[in-house]
Amino acid sequence: MTDPRPMRVFSGVQPTANAHLGNYLGAIRRFVPLQDEGECIFCVVDLHAVTVPQDPKMLAAQTREIAAVYMAAGIDPARSIIFVQSSVSAHAELAWLLNCVARMGWLERMTQFKEKSGENAERSSVGLFAYPVLMAADILAYRATHVPVGEDQKQHLELARDIAARFNKEFKAEDHFPLPAPLIGATAARVMNLQDGTKKMSKSDPAELSRINLADSDDVIVRKMKKARTDAEPLPLDVAGLAGRPEVDNLVGIYAALSDLSKQAVLDEFAGAGFGVFKPRLADLAVSVLAPVREAMQVYLADPAQLDALLRDGSLKADVIARPILQQTREAMGFWS
Ligand code: TYM
Repeated sequence: MTDPRPMRVFSGVQPTANAHLGNYLGAIRRFVPLQDEGECIFCVVDLHAVTVPQDPKMLAAQTREIAAVYMAAGIDPARSIIFVQSSVSAHAELAWLLNCVARMGWLERMTQFKEKSGENAERSSVGLFAYPVLMAADILAYRATHVPVGEDQKQHLELARDIAARFNKEFKAEDHFPLPAPLIGATAARVMNLQDGTKKMSKSDPAELSRINLADSDDVIVRKMKKARTDAEPLPLDVAGLAGRPEVDNLVGIYAALSDLSKQAVLDEFAGAGFGVFKPRLADLAVSVLAPVREAMQVYLADPAQLDALLRDGSLKADVIARPILQQTREAMGFWS
């Protein structure tokens, strides 16, 4: 059945250091064509970033950096809303209301909390535990219908749907919140660590060689691709031959995503070739895609006043949508107003 509602897209990226190839291929790049399909709202989620310690001297700069990445990737602030989460108070307010709808047991099942808190869950911030509820608030504050994300956010999206459904039922407000649909890419939904193909490429990995940052120079991209871990076998004939070779599978997946091909199409070209052939081609391809993004990013970052003006404009537009939805949510819950 087709959805009768107009499509409204919402997504967010945290302003932590080191936005990387995984963020770009798994999420940001995929935001761009959605601008032709529906109303798009893209957020720099600074309230999420502070669930783990951030350097207060760096946070604003990192926030501008993600806004610059959005625009450098092709998000047009004249067609889409780009804004900073903490500048629209509806996010934090709705998160509190939804904290009282979500259940402890639901959050305890979140694998990302377990991964991020590690052995030290007791010492984690309460914010880190409640993080997925804030994410649900981000989405539901706009009644967004579609949420493009990497695969690691799938469980959080399911939680957002559970929270929306429970709110609608508990407050007898059928359809108050639409259940948001995740949009997860067919390739590069989970880009892996270049040194260990069993781990996700991540901003927080201390090993620089584990990821390609969007700010990396051409030389650094080439060096990191050259040093990416592989094995001694040549590239296989087909996708089945990638089984049990996580690093090789990852590099083929990156090549496929960067060139908009399927993994099989990549193997059709490189089957039987060694990494001495494949890696330089992959490095060239990565440079050809990432250099223009990096250069455009630098242009936006060179004019922070202009960037701030765009973000303030985005906040106003976001607030116009979120404020009445928050008000209707308060009314459904019976708050005095
Ligand atoms: P964040 O900042 O960790 O990541 C931003 C986006 O990048 C995707 N991603 C990846 N995709 C493929 N391979 C990887 N190795 C990889 N690493 C990250 C993430 O899935 C994400 O789409 N909780 C979110 C931010 C958020 C949000 C939201 C997203 C807050 N509120 C509302 C959507 C809707 C996060 O931590 O993203």
